[in-house]
Amino acid sequence: MVKILCIGAGYVGGPTMAMIAKKNPKVKVTVVDINQKRIDAWNSDNLPIYEPGLDEVVKAARGKNLFFSTNVDKGIKEADIIFVSVNTPTKTFGHGAGCAADLQYWEKCARRILELSTSDKIVVEKSTLPVRTAAAMERILDSGKNGVHFDVLSNPEFLAEGTAIADLENPDRILIGGHPTARGKKAIKALVDVYAAWVPKEKILTTNLWSSELSKLTANAFLAQRVSSINSISALCEATDADVGEVARAIGMDSRIGPKFLKASVGFGGSCFKKDILNLVYLCESYGLHEVAEYWRQVVKMNEYQERRFVSRMLKEMFNTIAGKRIALFGFAFKADTGDTRESPAILIARELLEENAEVVITDPQALEHAKIDLADVIDRINFEPDPYKAAKGAHAVALLTEWKEYKTLDYQKIFDGMVQPAFLFDGRNHLDHKALHKIGFNVYSIGKAALKHI
Ligand code: NAD
Ligand code: UGA
Repeated sequence: MVKILCIGAGYVGGPTMAMIAKKNPKVKVTVVDINQKRIDAWNSDNLPIYEPGLDEVVKAARGKNLFFSTNVDKGIKEADIIFVSVNTPTKTFGHGAGCAADLQYWEKCARRILELSTSDKIVVEKSTLPVRTAAAMERILDSGKNGVHFDVLSNPEFLAEGTAIADLENPDRILIGGHPTARGKKAIKALVDVYAAWVPKEKILTTNLWSSELSKLTANAFLAQRVSSINSISALCEATDADVGEVARAIGMDSRIGPKFLKASVGFGGSCFKKDILNLVYLCESYGLHEVAEYWRQVVKMNEYQERRFVSRMLKEMFNTIAGKRIALFGFAFKADTGDTRESPAILIARELLEENAEVVITDPQALEHAKIDLADVIDRINFEPDPYKAAKGAHAVALLTEWKEYKTLDYQKIFDGMVQPAFLFDGRNHLDHKALHKIGFNVYSIGKAALKHI
């Protein structure tokens, strides 16, 4: 029986391994993490991450061929294939702080694997890493003296949160990078076989290691760039009465451009877009490619501009003062269908509103616990309210920051009636029916569209 280990039971490690276990009942899959609370949650009915469909996939395999444990060392000793799926955040200290990837967690894993292995293993980079990290991993793993051989592969993950299970079940592609040597090819084949249990062969791409590593950073950079591009146009739409939804539709029908990822918003969030672009920027700088670095840095700058622009617009439209005014933030997660708030635009927006001495109340169906942690230093100045009606009661403005489905079906007449007049609604996701809201009496401001005002 092939034994797979995954180090890191996070947003990637957990769902990915659950899917691999479900689709390969004859393979034993163990997911380990140093975080006991996380592992306990993976073993309970209350999984540590909210992801539609995840419960069913975990339940289908857990206890049969899928195991969650904190025993990292035992897992390493037993495994034939080890996925490393630990976090690779932006460095906050020293050289490259604020830009380069912090590889300490990843390197610790490589050293532990080397220390404990007594049989040959395939080591798979699942985390997103700077291009040529596999070379460093190989140097560490090859420094052992007990004759154990390691084959390093790159197998980046492309799932998006909120749709992780659908993405894993039916991926656009699986990417596997390895060396074109006889050993390398054998390792690639072993990993291809794992995915071939459910992914059509033509969707499994094999490349050299460096192309695979770089493709992951490039994919995220291109996706984020599309969001920043349409957001930049949203600012121009607001100045000219063009409608960004209409522009996106018109350009998206050009088959060379395509319709996806053209939804103007309050800004992109999530743990990876900003981190991975900054990682790319740092890499380019370190190869002396300053113009290339500057090109990609602009995508992040545009995103920060879009977040700040949202708050400036609120301030300007609410008579240049929001001090003492209650403002209800509808949604705190970085996108719908996840409880994840990492790099959510809502964090900066909440903080900027507090800077203006507004009274901030936050509601979200899944992310309130994370919001409390993100805003721990100002927690006594913020209200957290699970019920959107109560959150909006007595508010001067509602700002919708996450496109939760349930926000579409709220009784906005009831919300309007409970608010201070004139009532403002800022839709940071162009998610609601603006004409209907305007008819109720709201002054409605959305992204990249003309305002619908009564005053
Ligand atoms: P995460 O922070 O949710 O999970 C990482 C886990 O690794 C944590 O639970 C942490 O405790 C554990 N860990 C760290 N060091 C460890 C060690 N030495 N031994 C055992 N466990 C250890 O991170 P994530 O969101 O799952 O992301 C992981 C990687 O995947 C990152 O490189 C990220 O860029 C990439 N990625 C993330 C997504 C996503 O949607 N979140 C999608 C694609 C790729
Ligand atoms: C993104 C990529 O889509 C995944 O392929 C990748 O694996 C992952 O990053 C990663 O490496 O972590 P994720 O961040 O989970 O996935 O979610 P996305 O759907 O990409 O959304 C990112 C942000 O962009 C969200 O805040 C979303 O609201 C925003 N967005 C997205 C827009 O504002 N407009 C759009 O048209 C699309």
